[in-house]
Formats: sequence, C-alpha cells, structure tokens
Amino acid sequence: MSAAAMFAHLLLERLPGRAPARVPEPCAVMADAAQVDAFCAVGGDRGVLAPIYHYHAVQAAASIRPGDRVLDLGCGPGNQLLHLARLHPGARFVGVDASRPMLRRARRTLDSGGAGGVALRRGDLTALRALPDAAFDCVTCTLSLHHLPDLDALHRAAREMSRVLRPGGGVYVADFGRLRRAATQRHFAHQRAAEQGPTFTADYFNSLRAAFSVAELDAALAALGPGVRRHQTALAPFMVVYRRGVHGADDAAALARARAALARLTPSQRRDCRALAAWFAAGGLPTPVSLR
Ligand SMILES: C[S@@+](CC[C@H](N)C(=O)[O-])C[C@H]1O[C@@H](n2cnc3c(N)ncnc32)[C@H](O)[C@@H]1O
Repeated sequence: MSAAAMFAHLLLERLPGRAPARVPEPCAVMADAAQVDAFCAVGGDRGVLAPIYHYHAVQAAASIRPGDRVLDLGCGPGNQLLHLARLHPGARFVGVDASRPMLRRARRTLDSGGAGGVALRRGDLTALRALPDAAFDCVTCTLSLHHLPDLDALHRAAREMSRVLRPGGGVYVADFGRLRRAATQRHFAHQRAAEQGPTFTADYFNSLRAAFSVAELDAALAALGPGVRRHQTALAPFMVVYRRGVHGADDAAALARARAALARLTPSQRRDCRALAAWFAAGGLPTPVSLR
C-alpha cells in the first residue's frame, strides 16, 4: 500500500461533509461458499489479514490474563482466535459464529494451528441464549459488528457482551468505522486487490460501507460499562478499537510470544502490521511491543 495515498485519503476524510448512509452487508451471516473461501484465504498465515490479526492479538494482550475464559464473538474462520490462543496458551477460548461453514473452517484452522483446545459454538451474537451471565473474563470481537443488520442488533450485541462478561472483565472489540468518502472506501478495499482477489475485494468494500459510525459504536458499547476506552486510527476512523485492559502491567510472557509470532510474518506483512500500528499510535494507542 502506498503510505502517501493512504495519508491523502485519510486527510481528505477531514474535509467537512456528510458520511454516506450505511449500506448493510448483503450477507450478514457469511455462509456463501465463495465468500467463505475468499475470507479464509486472506486470513491464513500468508494472507493480507494476518498482520491485522497479529496487531489485534498484541493489543488484546492487555485484556487477557493467564487462565482467563475468553469469548470471541463472530469468530469466522478462526484466524483471529488462533493468533490470540497462541499468545495465551493458558487461557480457555470459546468462539461463536452463526455460520456453520465458518465454524467448520475455524475447527480446521485451530486444529492445524496447534490450538485444538479452543471450543466452538454456533450462535447469534445478539442473543447468546446458551451462555450464562458472567461466564467469561474477557470478550473479544473483531471485524464482526459491521455484519449486524441495524442499530438495534448492535445494541443487543453490546448488551449480550456485557451480560456474559464478569463485571469489570477484559474487552477487546475492533471494527471499521464509517468513512465519509466513497473514494476512501474504494481505496482501502482495492489497495491489495491483486493479492486478495475479486471476491474478497468486493466483500471488503461492502464491509466498509456497512461500518457503523463512531458515534453509533460509542452509544452501543457504553453498555460494557466504565473503563472501556475507544482508540482509533489517526485522522479518520478507518479502524476503531474499544478496549478495557485488566493488567496492572503488561503480560510479559504473552508479549514475548508476540515477538516470536511477528518473526513468522513475511517482511511485507510486518510492514503492514507496523503501518496499522503507526496509525493507531498517532491516534493515541501505542503498541506494547516492538513490531520491528
Ligand atoms: C468478517 S467476519 C470476521 C471473522 C473474525 N472475527 C475475523 O476477525 O476474522 C464476520 C463474521 O461474523 C459472523 N456473523 C455475522 N452476524 C452474526 C451474528 N448475528 N451472530 C454470530 N455471528 C455472526 C459471520 O458469519 C462471519 O463469520
């Protein structure tokens, strides 16, 4: 990705003007075979999403303690879960998704990635009926909220997160924020088109159009209670993180594993990871471990 082009797009987002209306995802639950295949491919070890997953796993380390019960909502094909589970071998993870094909992929991803102990369940993240109150020490949710059909569903999801989480537990929610310009949305969706293929490119564009605004996310995620801080990429909310940390100090063992995991990324993936980290750092969220 050209850093200059990205800077220019994000700067143009600062111009006054109305954000385009939200366009909900055509398929909220991802069950279409081609869409699932494309998403799995970009999430794998050599895929364009691997640096994003690495970044979120590093930042989520502040919210997870050894032995914690961690719930990942909208886990999809399990790639983010795998990055998290590798950093926290002592934690007990449960992934929930509404899509059977995604859960089948997640089982494979986790078993082949050495995280066979992660449990997976089919369920609706806006109505987690099978899960008792306060059953988890941490809730994570990456790139899934924009799949919800409307604001009502977003508020239900946030209330369910709060219900199944022990009071004051760890939170790590990351998603796209609504951008103001269709040109910026197209830029992000297409910047890796050659590597990611047309199906994922179309899917990515749909995701950016379906993103909730920061104000909408703020209003819903307030249900998670005090201590949850919002962080976003500088200049414009291309990506937004809501986090409640639970450590007095950084989890040194998890961060040591993060350094080892970084070494497994390709040089270009490491560059992408550093670029995302730099945009968040400029927005006020430093990275707890060197990404060099
Ligand atoms: C873009 S994927 C993100 C997957 C994963 N979290 C990641 O970061 O790679 C969004 C996932 O949310 C799931 N999803 C959408 N609506 C859902 C709902 N109401 N309940 C549970 N899962 C849902 C989809 O099936 C899909 O697997």
